[in-house]
Amino acid sequence: MILSIESSCDDSSIAITKIDTLEVIYHKKISQELEHSVYGGVVPELAARLHAKALPDILEETKKYFPTLKAIAVTNAPGLSVTLVEGVTMAKALSISLNLPIIAVNHLYGHIYSLFIEKKALFPMTILLVSGGHTQVIDASGYNDFTTIASTMDDSFGESFDKVSKMMGLGYPGGPIVEKMAKDGDEKRFNFTVPLMNSPKIAYSYSGLKNQARLKVLEFGCEITKQDICDICASFQRVAVTHLVHKLKKIFKTKKIKDFAIVGGASANIYLRKTIQSLCDEFDANLHVAKLEYCSDNAVMIGRCAVEGYKREDFIDFEKIDVLAKIRK
Ligand code: KG4
Ligand code: ZN
Repeated sequence: MILSIESSCDDSSIAITKIDTLEVIYHKKISQELEHSVYGGVVPELAARLHAKALPDILEETKKYFPTLKAIAVTNAPGLSVTLVEGVTMAKALSISLNLPIIAVNHLYGHIYSLFIEKKALFPMTILLVSGGHTQVIDASGYNDFTTIASTMDDSFGESFDKVSKMMGLGYPGGPIVEKMAKDGDEKRFNFTVPLMNSPKIAYSYSGLKNQARLKVLEFGCEITKQDICDICASFQRVAVTHLVHKLKKIFKTKKIKDFAIVGGASANIYLRKTIQSLCDEFDANLHVAKLEYCSDNAVMIGRCAVEGYKREDFIDFEKIDVLAKIRK
């Protein structure tokens, strides 16, 4: 079995996965959403302190599995360096004390493997990764064989939902809140412009759209009603998703995509899932999504990716493992 640890942002999570059957034997996640909510976003120092408390608490529950472990897997990049180091330090300590190899897992690859929890991996696939830190379209050909074909030039998709929520004082994380408010809103009321509509670039940009929402909120000032907020959320969500789909359509037109997937925390968005399902229907592609519980950060996806690493003996010397806030291209 592999014990995996995830602490790249605001979720402390540990999982245990069986190498031969891919079965998830244990999984626990402690989220810090409540603690960060008052600040409208993740406060790295606070997140690190909360991981330092939560990770050992969870680990305590896994002690009975220690004799059956074959490796320790840990997210080492990308993420917040002060929180990544909490997981990596725990992995090093376990590696030394239990004499086990370490598998370093890239968080983004972990999200891709959230599609294959308790099942065989399927490649090739084109994947849209939408999380709080990333918006990327990735061509996935096999284990660790991933090529980014489009990414955001500024804010990420999930982050723009967080910011829009924050500017209306709705709380954190903004994605699920904005999606919920949007259900009661009129998505056509505000005609925000779709980013990069006339640009040939296959890329994303969310800072301009976020700013359009901000200006609308300012225009209402303290007169803003609950209905105005719902309408802003609905109009923003429609344009944010239209932007994703507009560029994806260009990609679908350039090559035959048989299998397409959406991963990352924001892939839980039902409006997004429905819209991408229509796109896949149009181009005769199969749409793959992870189970809702594995869309947001978790150690199960890290463990699933590590099973592939284990089979290839992709181990890292515990003295050489380092945390990387950003991946060099
Ligand atoms: O993958 P994740 O848990 O953490 C990162 O790796 O960043 O993604 C979290 C992000 C947050 O920005 C959150 O607001 C967004 O995913 N998110 C959503 C939804 N649920 C979570 N965005 C839009 N709609 C949602 N339903
Ligand atoms: Zn993530």
